[in-house]
Amino acid sequence: MYRKTAVITGASSGIGMELAPLFAAYGYELILTARRAERLQKLADDLVRMYGVKAHVIQIDIAQPQAAEALWKAIGAITPDVDVLVNNAGVGDSGDLATEDPEIIERMLHLNISALTLLTRHALPGMIARKRGKILNVSSLAGFQPGGPGMAVYYASKSYVLSFSRAIRRELRGSGVTVTTLCPGATHTEFEQTAKAGKTLLFHWSKPMEAREVAHAGFQGLQRGSAVVVPGLLNKLLAISPRFGPAAIALELNRFLLAQRR
Ligand SMILES: NC(=O)c1ccc[n+]([C@@H]2O[C@H](COP(=O)([O-])OP(=O)(O)OC[C@H]3O[C@@H](n4cnc5c(N)ncnc54)[C@H](OP(=O)(O)O)[C@@H]3O)[C@@H](O)[C@H]2O)c1
Repeated sequence: MYRKTAVITGASSGIGMELAPLFAAYGYELILTARRAERLQKLADDLVRMYGVKAHVIQIDIAQPQAAEALWKAIGAITPDVDVLVNNAGVGDSGDLATEDPEIIERMLHLNISALTLLTRHALPGMIARKRGKILNVSSLAGFQPGGPGMAVYYASKSYVLSFSRAIRRELRGSGVTVTTLCPGATHTEFEQTAKAGKTLLFHWSKPMEAREVAHAGFQGLQRGSAVVVPGLLNKLLAISPRFGPAAIALELNRFLLAQRR
């Protein structure tokens, strides 16, 4: 029997880690990637035991230049057929650009933009040839905003993901390949610490969702072939809110919400 294969980047924690069992429950063979190999191996072992699927682990830092090529080669050594690609790995950073560490900025751009773009590029020819394939790109509610003063690079990177994914979805119409963009709002994951997002007023005042709920919404949207998935009712309203007011007001509000609490 043909088993579909799903690749998930950033499967060692948060939303990616919660997506993995959803695919396993549907009988997908999994290729799990991130830097923390022990975490990935533990997840893979659990999925094999609980769902009887195959699960492979690829340890890789995809914030490095050329990493997308290396990862795609490693995936090719496991299977020539990727049915689902989930570009979930992403990082954020808080602070004004003038004081941000240039190395952190560079790694964020490589991971959030270059790796996602190039992995998608590598996956498409095979999917188009087979007339079948699904891509889930993880953007953010930030992607709808005119900008995020205090998290400028991160917000802009997520706008890129949304714009890029919408455009290639249109390019792929009729090909049998769908592209779905998942745009979560504030969510309880390690992102709260790594991006220092947990200290912002945004996280303090909003009610962050659980990673499991977000993963579930993304998985369902992907299976339906939805264009954009925004989990949560309040987040859906926030996603359309920039359409109803001037960008200057949204920028002021974001400046306020992205300030760090003491
Ligand atoms: N949490 C939120 O509020 C929120 C809101 C909107 C959108 N998002 C987006 O959701 C996605 C998942 O984030 P999350 O919230 O689940 O955060 P998370 O718990 O920090 O997960 C991030 C994942 O990305 C992986 N990763 C980070 N740097 C990497 C690198 N250089 N190479 C390979 N893998 C790397 C991490 O694994 P390793 O550390 O093991 O490498 C981890 O598995 C991200 O794209 C994020 O921007 C999050």
